[in-house]
Amino acid sequence: MDVRGTRMSKQMNEHFFKTRLEASEAAAKRIAELLSNRLDNQAEASIIVSGGTTPGQCLAALAKTPLDWQRVQVALSDERWVPADHEDSNEKLVRESLLVDEAATAQLLPVYAADASPEQRCEALQNPLPALPFSCSLIGMGADGHFASLFPDAEQLALGLDVESGRLYIPVTTKASPHPRISMTLAGISRSDEIALLFFGEEKLDVYKKALESTNGFPVSRLLRQKRAPVRLFWAP
Ligand code: 6PG
Repeated sequence: MDVRGTRMSKQMNEHFFKTRLEASEAAAKRIAELLSNRLDNQAEASIIVSGGTTPGQCLAALAKTPLDWQRVQVALSDERWVPADHEDSNEKLVRESLLVDEAATAQLLPVYAADASPEQRCEALQNPLPALPFSCSLIGMGADGHFASLFPDAEQLALGLDVESGRLYIPVTTKASPHPRISMTLAGISRSDEIALLFFGEEKLDVYKKALESTNGFPVSRLLRQKRAPVRLFWAP
């Protein structure tokens, strides 16, 4: 996989780039295409975006893309249970990096609510559901094979990874995070025209290769192996 370029493996499309900016811009272009396809045919479209450090340049590029953003809903793959002005808030990240420029009129669907517990909030987020299916799910990955907040040690991991669960979000506690979290489930993330998996670095690429080969305890294996939504990888060193 040292050769940079595009290839199609048995399960998915893989795009390898020399720089993180190139990978991010290519992911943004693909997300815009998928959104545009949906907006051409229906009143509202939706996307899922993840937090963390990886998606910054992708969200910035997407924000500069002309689209009918006022018809776009933006859902979060996961959230730390902190107020929206907290440094660790994914809502804050998305408001500041995606809901600007051309995309300023997009509608963010917040996860955190001050007046509810994470459990109550997960129930409330079932109704009304966003415009489904999502046009694209932009998902990152940790070196422990987690995606969204579906960490290997999450108590409700089995429920989170069950594509048939019918649940959109679940509460998560994990040793990996100082904050309680809420995660979108694989059932939610896979109700998508496509999953754009964006991550950087050789260490994560090794995890990805292992996760593709077997269900060896990496939650991301289940995302790679589900059959509902095609997965497209965007990677750079
Ligand atoms: C989050 C995520 C999470 C993230 C990975 C990778 O909000 O933290 O949605 O799943 O994508 O932890 O994080 P980095 O991009 O910071 O490496």
